[in-house]
Amino acid sequence: MKYKPANHIQDLQYFGEFGGVNPSISDSSTYTFLSAKTMFDTFEGNQDGCYLYSRHSTPSNLYLGEALAAMEGTETANVAASGMGAITGALLQLCKADDHIVSSRTIYGGTYAFLKNFAPRLNIKTSFVDITKLDTVEAVITPNTKVLYCESVSNPLLEVADIAGLSKIAKKHGLTLIVDNTFSPLSITPTELGADVVIHSLTKFINGSSDTVGGVTCGTQEFINSLRSVIDGANMLLGPTMDSLRSASILKNMRTLHIRMKQHSKNAMFLAEKFEADGFRTVYPGLESHPSHNLFKSMMNEDYGFGGMLTIDVGSLDKANELMELMQERNLGYLAVSLGFYKTLFSAPGTSTSSEIPVEEQIEMGLSDGLIRFSIGLDNDIERTYKMMKDCMETVGLFENISLN
Ligand SMILES: Cc1ncc(COP(=O)(O)O)c(C=O)c1O
Repeated sequence: MKYKPANHIQDLQYFGEFGGVNPSISDSSTYTFLSAKTMFDTFEGNQDGCYLYSRHSTPSNLYLGEALAAMEGTETANVAASGMGAITGALLQLCKADDHIVSSRTIYGGTYAFLKNFAPRLNIKTSFVDITKLDTVEAVITPNTKVLYCESVSNPLLEVADIAGLSKIAKKHGLTLIVDNTFSPLSITPTELGADVVIHSLTKFINGSSDTVGGVTCGTQEFINSLRSVIDGANMLLGPTMDSLRSASILKNMRTLHIRMKQHSKNAMFLAEKFEADGFRTVYPGLESHPSHNLFKSMMNEDYGFGGMLTIDVGSLDKANELMELMQERNLGYLAVSLGFYKTLFSAPGTSTSSEIPVEEQIEMGLSDGLIRFSIGLDNDIERTYKMMKDCMETVGLFENISLN
């Protein structure tokens, strides 16, 4: 039986202070105590249901955290001001100087830059590996390794991690398996496959309206408490705190996530099949040609499809830019980074979201110049969208160059 994340979100019930159907927003940075003793106990972590100060937690942030924990099947969760706030907090909580991380080499550029350029300042080293090769993953583990890190579906190459296989390795070596599930909310539930900590950039599909950044760390009560510890909690002390007004708006958007994911996936599947048939090298986990199509199928929950992200290779950066500019001009979407919006977003990752990755390494991992990453929108008439996209492709002369792909 697969996990049913949308049911868990649907079943949440909160009342506002005056019986409102939405929980009241906690519009305060600090909280009063009726007795000094309760304040002391709260600081000591012995008092549930009391709030100290909004960098630590707020009622609104706890509501959103609960909803995300319900979605991911974890005991609890901690929201953060951004996906990077969640990622860096979790890694720094688990690793100290001289520790080692094994990470997928195809991950979001910001995470890669943090591990490659920033963490070494604290003497935390990372080995980047092809995460689809479990032997390679295990081979680089050292006695100092603490964390195994991957994205369930990677940004931007859409490589799929074998989470159950990675979990076995993590358990064997006593490592914490962190999975960034930003590209596949609802479709994949990493904890069902053995992940210890699940992270999202809420900025993307979960919020879905491209109006805020946000992040979350989902895990055990013990781990989330450690992130929030006033003594040595990375999130408490580094301060990537989400504002309550924002967490209230993200919670409202989460209620339609299941409907949106189905439409993103349906549209992406339609376009991926068309682009592939047109002769473009198309990467989409829903295509049988995707090397991990069957793996994704074996891991996915019912109903939500293979996600809204796909890539095509148009042969060169110049062509990619020309096509993206024309698609934007014809109102097919926006030439913009990020994902999960109601309109299609497109960008060339090599020169944008993955530009932190040195060019030689981009080539090695198969991130070519002409790659366009699409976050497919919620278009009601995707056939019309496809015809308009094809027209743009013809206009920029892509079908003359199709042999390049
Ligand atoms: C897979 C993935 N993880 C994490 C992040 C970082 O999230 P944020 O921009 O909310 O800090 C991104 C952003 O693009 C992403 O794509």
